[in-house]
Amino acid sequence: MPHPTAPSAAPPAVHDGLVLEPRDVRFDWAQLPLHWIPDEPMATHTINVLHLLLPEGERWFVRVFKDALPMIRDEQLREEVLGFIGQESIHAEAHQEVLDHLLAQGLDPRPYLRQISWLFQRILGGKPHLTERQRRENIIERVAFVAAIEHFTAFLGDWVLNSPGLDQAKADPTMLDLLRWHGAEEVEHRSVAFDLMVHLDPGYPRRIRGMAVSGPLLVHLWVRGVRFLLAADPTLQGRIRPTWREARRHSRRGLLPDPMRSIRSGLRYLRPGYHPTQEGSSSQALAYLATSPAARAAAVR
Ligand SMILES: [Fe+2]
Ligand SMILES: [Fe+2]
Repeated sequence: MPHPTAPSAAPPAVHDGLVLEPRDVRFDWAQLPLHWIPDEPMATHTINVLHLLLPEGERWFVRVFKDALPMIRDEQLREEVLGFIGQESIHAEAHQEVLDHLLAQGLDPRPYLRQISWLFQRILGGKPHLTERQRRENIIERVAFVAAIEHFTAFLGDWVLNSPGLDQAKADPTMLDLLRWHGAEEVEHRSVAFDLMVHLDPGYPRRIRGMAVSGPLLVHLWVRGVRFLLAADPTLQGRIRPTWREARRHSRRGLLPDPMRSIRSGLRYLRPGYHPTQEGSSSQALAYLATSPAARAAAVR
């Protein structure tokens, strides 16, 4: 799809005529240990924050994109948005099942989830009693928030596809497949929200505002989420308190993304010539999806 702010170099061929296929994956969590990176509760729970944020967050993406559908004047982009909606709906359900498993293991995520529901449904939800013009503006603003968040989901997807440290630490293979299947689909559809935002409003201030809200909000929710999970873990009894120093130590071992790299990635989003195809590798994502146990099982279902 033509893009007003895309660099002059052609995007990777795999992005041309992007066809996003929702893969109906299933995972069995019966054997998942509470600390699925063995003896690494902080790294486990730092990644577990994804399970807290994504079900509600991705359902919100879906609502925002459904609201935006009637505003799309480009058939290829409409198809990509429909594919995005299909993929994000399945992502939300897959992470929801992990939450059910945490509860069964005595870690009750519901107090944190209530706050997340309030945020996505009440604060970031659609507003009643708007004029048609205000409603359109509100939808575009929320698409810009989604586009900035999708920059980070693609960053994390690229990281988890290139994180041998998790394999070396003997992380649970089913959880690794969930993270890499999801991460690969995030890399695969990384341009859709950005292209939709630019289609609805090509102006640079919209992009900046999206990141100015979403970036700090994500950091805040993540830090709160890690603190919450470590405090709610019945086997830890509040003995472990997360610190940035520990996060950096874990990142050096390849168990977590480097916090500084994550921040630098957020800053790249602000470059005038930025486009999501400059980050991550679609070929690598599709190669993982061709070997992912869950995606392969979904393909023959
Ligand atoms: Fe997703
Ligand atoms: Fe996504």
